Amino acid sequence: MISKFSNLKIVSNPIVNQSLCTMRAKDTDTQGVRLAARKLTRILLYEATKHLPQTEIEIETPLTKFITQTINPDINIIISPILRAGLIFTDEAVDILPQATIRHIGMYRDEKTLKPVWYYNKVPMPVDKPEDYYIYITDPMLATGNSLIEAIRLYVDKGIPETNICCVCMISSPQGIENVFNEFPLVTIIVAAVDSHLNERGYIVPGMGDAGDRIYNT
Ligand code: URA
Repeated sequence: MISKFSNLKIVSNPIVNQSLCTMRAKDTDTQGVRLAARKLTRILLYEATKHLPQTEIEIETPLTKFITQTINPDINIIISPILRAGLIFTDEAVDILPQATIRHIGMYRDEKTLKPVWYYNKVPMPVDKPEDYYIYITDPMLATGNSLIEAIRLYVDKGIPETNICCVCMISSPQGIENVFNEFPLVTIIVAAVDSHLNERGYIVPGMGDAGDRIYNT
C-alpha cells in the first residue's frame, strides 16, 4: 500500500540500517541513541534537500574564477522541529543549512485521545512570497500523523505550497503516512523505515519506544 505514494521517499542504505538497529535496540544507552540519530539526520537531510532551488554563482578559487551552482540565497529555509523529540535533528540541520531559520513547534500527545496538544508555536511570521519558503518539519516518529498534520497546516495556512513542505522522520507507521497524505497529498515525506503498525497506545511496532525518553534519558 505504501508504494502508492509517489512523494514518500524511504531512504535505505547500510549506514541507515545500522543506525536504526542501534536506535531501536532496547539496551542502547542515551548516548548511543543520540549518536545514531545524528548520523541518520545527516543522511535524511541530504535526501530531503535534493530539490532546493539553485542558482549560478561566480567563485574564485586559488587557481581561477569559474561559474558554478549553489543554493539560491533568496529563498527562505525553515527547519521546524516538533518538540521535544524533533529537536534531535536541529544541531545537524543547522550545520548542513546554516542559512536556515529554526521555528520550534511545541506539541505533546494526549495519551488518551492520541491528539496533539499545543504548548508552543514559533511560526507566527508574516510571509510575503510564500512560494520562496522551503519547510522541513522534523519528528523522529511518524506515528498517527496527527502532530505532523497540525504542523503542516500552520504553513499551508500561510499560503506556502504543499510541494515546498518536507516532513523528515526516522521511523514511521503505514497509518501515519496514509493520514498525512490523505490531508496533504503534495507534501514530501522522507523516512528511514516504515514499520508494521501502531499498537493500541499509539506506539509504532517494532519502533524504538518513546523517542523523547530514549534521546533525553527521561
Ligand atoms: N512517539 C514515540 O516516541 N514513539 C512511538 O512509537 C510513537 C510516537
